[in-house]
Amino acid sequence: MAKILGICGSVRKGATEHAVREALKAAEKIPGIETEFWTVRGKKIGYCVHCDRCIRDKTMCVIQDDLKELENLVLEADGFIIGSPVYDMNISAQLTAVFNRLRPIYLVHPGVLKNKVGGAIATGGTRHGGQEFALQAILNFYIMHEMLACGGLGGCYNGGKIWSKDMKAQGAIDDAVGMDTVRRLGRGVAEAAIVTALGRKEWREKAKELNIDIEGQSPLRDH
Ligand SMILES: Cc1cc2nc3c(=O)[nH]c(=O)nc-3n(C[C@H](O)[C@H](O)[C@H](O)COP(=O)(O)O)c2cc1C
Repeated sequence: MAKILGICGSVRKGATEHAVREALKAAEKIPGIETEFWTVRGKKIGYCVHCDRCIRDKTMCVIQDDLKELENLVLEADGFIIGSPVYDMNISAQLTAVFNRLRPIYLVHPGVLKNKVGGAIATGGTRHGGQEFALQAILNFYIMHEMLACGGLGGCYNGGKIWSKDMKAQGAIDDAVGMDTVRRLGRGVAEAAIVTALGRKEWREKAKELNIDIEGQSPLRDH
């Protein structure tokens, strides 16, 4: 009924990967949820070089590397759980590159992400090392793409937050409170993905009946 894509922004098989996978497991407990996992680990992902080919030629990113395998997964997903290690109180450079390179979605597939749902996970080596800022960077990606941000259930606030003590997966496992936020996030995104998938379908039908154009709006230019 709804597909959730987990994206891990860590180059290691560490705390972030563990947390994203656990969130997906929690999501799968809701009947009808299917999940897929993708990671930057071991992938070749170049930076956006601001060539503007995407804008001029209305094309997805022309750089041919491992980002290509992510594009279709992103288009097909109903919901997202994106996790990042905290690097310098922000998301990882690798995840930033992924977000930058997915920019053309709004040009090539306008409206495809509209009203889909996303949740965020941040894992920091220290207890208060910038998890909130990293979460916000992920939530900003969703907002920018006309998506709805899900914070998770019952006191999870803006997403899953892990204090890994730089101990990779074991650090996440040992942070029982943090893992609770991660599982609550998985469950919350799963429910929201089902609700929004059903709602988007119904709204498409209703809009057709009422003759309302809900296709992607052309991007603002004079701002
Ligand atoms: C370049 C770099 C910058 C980091 N900056 C921070 C930081 O600002 N705050 C923090 O709490 N931890 C920081 N860390 C530690 C990682 O966030 C932490 O070990 C995290 O759990 C790694 O996730 P992983 O195990 O999934 O790779 C940094 C690590 C690296 C390599």
